[in-house]
Amino acid sequence: MYQGISNYSEGVDTAFMVILGISFAFLIGLTVTMIYFVIRYNKKRHPKATQIKGSTALEIVWTVVPTILVLVMFYFGWSGWRPMHDIPEDAMKVKSIARMWKFSFEYENGKTSEKLYIPKGEPVVLDLISRDVIHSLYIPAFRVKEDMVPGRTKQMWFQANKTGSFDLFCAEYCGLRHSYMTTTVEVLPQEEFKSWIADTTGVATAEGEEAKPGTAGKQIIERLGCVSCHSLDGTKLVGPTFKNLWGKTEMVTTDGDERQITVDKEYIKRSIYQPNVDIVEGYREGQMVSYKEELSDADIDAIVEFLKTIDEEE
Ligand code: CUA
Repeated sequence: MYQGISNYSEGVDTAFMVILGISFAFLIGLTVTMIYFVIRYNKKRHPKATQIKGSTALEIVWTVVPTILVLVMFYFGWSGWRPMHDIPEDAMKVKSIARMWKFSFEYENGKTSEKLYIPKGEPVVLDLISRDVIHSLYIPAFRVKEDMVPGRTKQMWFQANKTGSFDLFCAEYCGLRHSYMTTTVEVLPQEEFKSWIADTTGVATAEGEEAKPGTAGKQIIERLGCVSCHSLDGTKLVGPTFKNLWGKTEMVTTDGDERQITVDKEYIKRSIYQPNVDIVEGYREGQMVSYKEELSDADIDAIVEFLKTIDEEE
């Protein structure tokens, strides 16, 4: 179905077919032999059991043959895996960030996207970064999968040989909404990719003057995947909903003491920078990591503007 989509398709598929072929040969061979023996050595046909006293020739055969088969499987597995670890120097770099529960991609010119856009026929290397727990980036059509471990940057490279849209998802159970951690890889023809990457107007308009109030903030929380845990429609997810949050009076636990707070900029900022200081009633501690490194004061202002707009809607 996905013949030759990436530079690994052939190697991985060959290894898979070789192992599957050997397994099938054994399955069929053993089943046929077993059925034959059941019939041939049935008590009616063969009333007296024969005693066999070992056979050196047979011992050698059933040691040597499986050894060769295992080495054949190893050879194909190894030669399919080997190129994955020789990263070409000229590969295009994309920073791939995973967090509960969203992937985001950052290109060398600073452009960011929720889908992974890559050019056809060019090597691409992904820096795999996790902001919280272990995730795993899996692109079945490309035959690649690699864990994303917090505190460690692993790399994965590939080259797509066909244009199209392919599934990309998290393959490591990472919490409640793990199954929502899906996106796609969009393989574009080289020219199309060049104009896509050069086009950074999407960001510029949102921060420009004509933009609606709150648009910039909305983009930030979508980019960082905040909405995976904080719904916009009032649904209770892992964290409190953003709907009607601004100005609301909330019961929180701070250092074990319950207290009442009003949702203002200070509270929003503290919740983003030190998410485990004030725990809102009905929610658990330790569900969120600090975004201090990623969000500036101006970003928080933008988020506050956005929160105000979803307050007005009701
Ligand atoms: Cu991330 Cu599962």
